[in-house]
Amino acid sequence: AGTTRRDFLYIATGAMGAVGAAALVWPFVSQLQPDASVLALSTTEVDLTSIAEGQMVTVKWRGKPVFVWNRTEKDIAEAKEVQLSALLDPIARNANLAADAPATDENRAGEGHEKWLVVIGICTHLGCVPIGHSGEYDGWFCPCHGSEYDTAGRVRRGPAPTNLDIPPYQFVSDTKISIG
Ligand code: FES
Repeated sequence: AGTTRRDFLYIATGAMGAVGAAALVWPFVSQLQPDASVLALSTTEVDLTSIAEGQMVTVKWRGKPVFVWNRTEKDIAEAKEVQLSALLDPIARNANLAADAPATDENRAGEGHEKWLVVIGICTHLGCVPIGHSGEYDGWFCPCHGSEYDTAGRVRRGPAPTNLDIPPYQFVSDTKISIG
């Protein structure tokens, strides 16, 4: 109530302008979030049975790309070999974990479901969408300014300052996750 059609059009036009200016950059996602009552409904279920070993799929969650990767033994082993002291961002930035939880591969994959990596597909530098299965670290390469992420979604080459974010998600069964 109280919002006229004219107000709405004005706001919508402003938002479009921001999107246009952002071009390839994911458009200011955090500032365009709908209110809490809408968010409560915004979960994305992903059936894992259709994702073959080694395959990475992109699903949409609240308008953002989320990568779901069924990692091979080799991918997992590679991530585990890394010395944590060698990481640019040693903190596992997962809202589901303590803020200072170490960035072990287990923490980033979810206990008992180690082969599944679920990360938000937005480069932590300026918001481009990184390309999977590429780059020197076998995870993602960001085409915008060359950041690279490893097989646990951890940043290994800047300018991205932090690891790929992990969305809140849970296993609703062994073959299905719910994001959000
Ligand atoms: Fe990815 Fe700049 S947005 S490296």
